[in-house]
Amino acid sequence: MQDTTIKPVNVDFARDIIEGLSSQPKRLPSKYFYDAIGDDLFQQIMELDEYYLTRTEFNILSNEKQNILNAVNENGGFHLYELGAGDGYKTKILLKHFVSQNVDFEYSPIDISSNVLDQLERSLIKEIPDLNVRPLVGDYFAMLNSIENEEHHHKVVIFMGSNIGNFNSEVAVKFLKQLRSSLTKGDYFLLGADLKKDPTKILKAYNDSKGVTRDFNLNLLSRINKEFEADFDISKFQHYPYYDPGTGECRSYLISTEEQEVHIADLNEKVHFKAWEAIHMEISKKFDLDELEQFAEESGFELVQHFTDENNYFVDSLWRAV
Ligand code: AVI
Repeated sequence: MQDTTIKPVNVDFARDIIEGLSSQPKRLPSKYFYDAIGDDLFQQIMELDEYYLTRTEFNILSNEKQNILNAVNENGGFHLYELGAGDGYKTKILLKHFVSQNVDFEYSPIDISSNVLDQLERSLIKEIPDLNVRPLVGDYFAMLNSIENEEHHHKVVIFMGSNIGNFNSEVAVKFLKQLRSSLTKGDYFLLGADLKKDPTKILKAYNDSKGVTRDFNLNLLSRINKEFEADFDISKFQHYPYYDPGTGECRSYLISTEEQEVHIADLNEKVHFKAWEAIHMEISKKFDLDELEQFAEESGFELVQHFTDENNYFVDSLWRAV
């Protein structure tokens, strides 16, 4: 009997693979790192000694939670939105503190994955039973816009983890302008961003000694093998991150160690690699404070305060919509 099974194909992913691997130089978008295995590898990365980002932001929030509250809680109550919910590890510091201070607020994590939100909601109900939580499944801006009219309190939006660094600068400004357009004058935005520092320290965070970040990058090729019947031989690709202190960009590449041809059966594509040809996988940009202030200004915000750690490794920068 003929096999009439139609595989559910992720159309955007397919298009990005074809576009990216037929470009010169080749590229694959890092947003596709995060399947179930990628999520697990990223969790392991965040626990690595070399990956200072998560730990540092955790410490900033622990030390500054009352100052952050004082800054945003001006009219007695707000609606807190988080873009990209994750496991809530860092956000729970703020949430627990706000609840303990009897602040009148509601928390809405926004994520495209209902699975992520279900898990987060379950853990929040268990750990912070008095929290008022209303998860929103969908696109960040669609969600922020949809609640515009029913809103009585002002909005406080948080976007942590230096996720902004994974956009190129042009996309970052577009993203911030779009965010601004779904806010009202006087609303707040708290942006977590990794700062420029000793280049050796930055590079180590993306070239860890256990090779977890290497596996995190290679997993995208394995994912294409599984989801599109491709035949990437991952032993023939080398992970190569490098940091450019001029631009503040940490870039990671997978490099074909020999000339080879890869078939992606489901996409009907053959991809030719020259020996030592690179695929650009990710940008993790590092900022300085002036640059962030310029971003704020360009996108319709004013700086309220930079909350940093004692080493100035990371910042949670609080902005107000103007
Ligand atoms: C999610 N994002 C902020 C991480 C970063 O640092 O750019 C992803 C990551 N890539 C390699 N290690 C961690």
